[in-house]
Amino acid sequence: MQIEIQTFITVLLGIAKNMNAPTPIEQRLVELCRSACGLLDCDRSSIFLREGNVYRAAHNYGNPPDIAAAFPKFKVGLKDPLVSRAVASRAFVLVNDVRSSELMDQQTAAAARICAIVVAALLDEHGEPLGFMTAEYNERIGTFSETKAMIVEGLAQLASIVLLGDRHARERQRVEDAKRRLEDQLQQARRLEAMGRLAAGIAHDFNNHLSVISGFNQLLAERLVGQPLEKHVAEIGEAVGRATRLTRQLLVFSHKQALDPRMVDLSAALSSYAGTLRSVLGRDVELVLDAAQGVHPVRIDPVQLEQILLNLAVNARDAMPNGGKLRVATSNVAFGEADIAGSDLPAGGYVRLACSDDGIGMDAATLDRIFEPFFTTKKCAMGTGLGLSIVHSIVSQTGGHIRVESAPGRGTTFLLHFPRAEDPAASAV
Ligand SMILES: Nc1ncnc2c1ncn2[C@@H]1O[C@H](COP(=O)(O)OP(=O)(O)OP(=O)(O)O)[C@@H](O)[C@H]1O
Ligand SMILES: [Mg+2]
Repeated sequence: MQIEIQTFITVLLGIAKNMNAPTPIEQRLVELCRSACGLLDCDRSSIFLREGNVYRAAHNYGNPPDIAAAFPKFKVGLKDPLVSRAVASRAFVLVNDVRSSELMDQQTAAAARICAIVVAALLDEHGEPLGFMTAEYNERIGTFSETKAMIVEGLAQLASIVLLGDRHARERQRVEDAKRRLEDQLQQARRLEAMGRLAAGIAHDFNNHLSVISGFNQLLAERLVGQPLEKHVAEIGEAVGRATRLTRQLLVFSHKQALDPRMVDLSAALSSYAGTLRSVLGRDVELVLDAAQGVHPVRIDPVQLEQILLNLAVNARDAMPNGGKLRVATSNVAFGEADIAGSDLPAGGYVRLACSDDGIGMDAATLDRIFEPFFTTKKCAMGTGLGLSIVHSIVSQTGGHIRVESAPGRGTTFLLHFPRAEDPAASAV
């Protein structure tokens, strides 16, 4: 063996340092290629990595400039005779006379100017190929001894260790990330539960007081019919109504509201809420209703449906400070297996409520958090950040789901899907 012992030890020490260094994996693999060239005094060394049905050129040391440019495009089929033999042998294949070897594809050899080559397989813990490593003479005429080929095999094993280490580290990172996400969710769920209990407690007691106020107010109203104070009493009545709606919001939020779900025709309901929605939107925002005929019934508490529409309308209004259009449409939709892939929604018939505004829209970071309770981008006291979490909670309670499409400056569309309810009248027939 013509490798000088001092060179050998120097390169080996370099490899050992490189293996422990916190350098990126790409750099460590190129270093192994460089070590191969240094140890074997050959021209070039490359690592190809498996990607689906091919091995793709990944790392190299010693490519001349013309080949270096084309190198990333090189690929080798899984059935390539030379590589398959190296994989099957679990060691190396040595070809010193490339031109007369049946194992070599002559066209490739000519294009890459290979005169002599050693190929060693990179294998995972189950013996499956991760790729392969080469050492080559191409600029000079040279040959590899068996000992040199064994060194390539050793370096290929080190490359496998680097690759597997990286794979395991990424796997560990994925598990860690998933764990952290779960912990965050758990913490969020606990916070919500505590807040829900508090909100429900307050809302419940508050509701009792409101019923008392409302009762006495009604008695007053009866006594004051036709008198000057009648108007004031009516105002009190309306304020009590608003406060009652607010406590309902809190009860929905904490899932403690006594629900009164009914068969609702979304189109008919939408038309009946048009007046309220217009008064919420104000003069500068035009409401365009497209209530389709013949939409299937859905099961929902009408009071909650009103809450949904009000919350979406208020958000749309706030997103269009200089005016614009809010389009609200209903339609029947059917979701097949492909449409619901990745969600836990059953396939079947749904009724869609689409709310589209041409307001300021949202960036991805906002979009990510809109359903979080208390998430708001509105200035102090302008928003509580509860609106959409309530909408989400109501839609989820019906077994439906929400899709949102939005981009800054391009408006926002909320697509609410409610499961189609079986019509008891129809099934009784
Ligand atoms: N139509 C919309 N266009 C642009 N941004 C929106 C729209 N709807 C919601 N958002 C964004 O989502 C955030 C959360 O909305 P959500 O309704 O939950 O709370 P809020 O409107 O801020 O406060 P609240 O509804 O409790 O008064 C808003 O602060 C806003 O940034
Ligand atoms: Mg809101």
